[in-house]
Amino acid sequence: MRLTGALCRSVPLELPIVSANMDSVTEGPMARVLALEGGIGVIHRAMPIEAQAREIGRVKRSHGWVVEEPLCLPRGTTLREAREFIRRHGITGILIEEERGGRRLAGLLSNRDLPWGKGKDAEPVERFMTPFEKLVTGPPGMELEAAERSLFEHRIEKLPLVDASRQIRGLITKSDILLSREWPGSSKDGKGRLRVAAAVGARGDFLDRAEALLAAGADALVVDIAHGHSEVMERAVRALQGRFRDAELICGNVGTEEGARFLRDLRVAGIKVGIGPGRGCRTRLETAAGVPQLQAIHECRLAVGDAVPIIADGGIRNDKDVFLALACGASSVMLGSLLSGTDEAPGRVIEDPATREKRKIYRGMTSPQAVFEALYDDSDPGELDQALETPAEGQEIQVPYRGSVRDVLRRIRGHLRSAVSYAGEESLAAVRERVLASPSSHLIPLSAASRSESYER
Ligand code: XMP
Repeated sequence: MRLTGALCRSVPLELPIVSANMDSVTEGPMARVLALEGGIGVIHRAMPIEAQAREIGRVKRSHGWVVEEPLCLPRGTTLREAREFIRRHGITGILIEEERGGRRLAGLLSNRDLPWGKGKDAEPVERFMTPFEKLVTGPPGMELEAAERSLFEHRIEKLPLVDASRQIRGLITKSDILLSREWPGSSKDGKGRLRVAAAVGARGDFLDRAEALLAAGADALVVDIAHGHSEVMERAVRALQGRFRDAELICGNVGTEEGARFLRDLRVAGIKVGIGPGRGCRTRLETAAGVPQLQAIHECRLAVGDAVPIIADGGIRNDKDVFLALACGASSVMLGSLLSGTDEAPGRVIEDPATREKRKIYRGMTSPQAVFEALYDDSDPGELDQALETPAEGQEIQVPYRGSVRDVLRRIRGHLRSAVSYAGEESLAAVRERVLASPSSHLIPLSAASRSESYER
């Protein structure tokens, strides 16, 4: 059974689930698992540009059988610095270069080379690494099968690729090869690396941010503002298109057919739909702005047809809502609160001392807590006062702890399959086609009694 969808024009998805660009939902670890499972994550932007680019790099480097630009440290680096570097980038070994930035291979420092205690932390890594002379290496452009043979014959886990002058040209690892074989349905780019998207704003440093994120390998940029049917959006899209001709731009949020057409006419690659349905969102309560989400999805889809994929963003509380959004016109569904209680979401697990229930924090990006933390150290000091002066349209809540996001995705996938099967079809796309052709014969308004029969348990 096929559950395929799309994030945007050039990013198809085997599982049409997208994790929201929120600081309590998506950083590198969440995006990595989403992509492995066939969906995609959007890294949030409430952090300095370099930090966001680093999160992208963590995902791009975590998979794919060749790491094209492996991280390196010079041979004089102390063990302490190397440990910190390994921790920060979540890697299991580092190539050591002769001089900083020279990319001439001097050796390989793997986790196994690190002494147990911290007693030798002030010593340089060159004393612990496997030196170049003892390393097995391969040529640039080595074929997968030859690399597998070499890894097996020498019983090694890492194979640096170097050219005739010992310049580092890549790194092949056993775990990456195993992973890519293990996850055939994962979301990968043309080089076998996991796909990941990233959010940029529409003002301030957004062009510099976009440049750094694209350089780090972002597969799509999400221009995410509260009101996407606006002049601010138009200016931002034109500026981004002028500077990064090939970038895939996903824009939003909108909630009306006019809004969807406006974005289509700006030639964006994906349209994010949802004004106010989000769990951490108070927009409807405080401003009365918004459109009921299923209506918005359907209206936007009818307005743009198949021309631009629609991402239904916000308001998904149960797995049936994922199905409804996809059946009524969305090509993928963006989830915030439903994924935020998992291990892969940022933040710690909190235990309620009275009930012993485990929980995690989920918060709207305009909640005072998120606004406060989003203004990192080098932000303009007046910016915080100004940001907090705008009354909040977001709130912070606690959600139950759910373990690994893999289990949540497995459950959603199972329920989607089941829903498609009840509809008597072989694919989600076929269900969507049928519902769009005749919505009134599939979407039945519920009376209070039928609502209670359906949902009260
Ligand atoms: P769910 O319901 O999946 O929604 O938790 C996630 C989406 O909510 C939006 N969002 C906000 N909307 N004020 C808003 O009006 C906020 O502070 C806020 N924070 C997140 C966002 O579209 C996200 O993807």
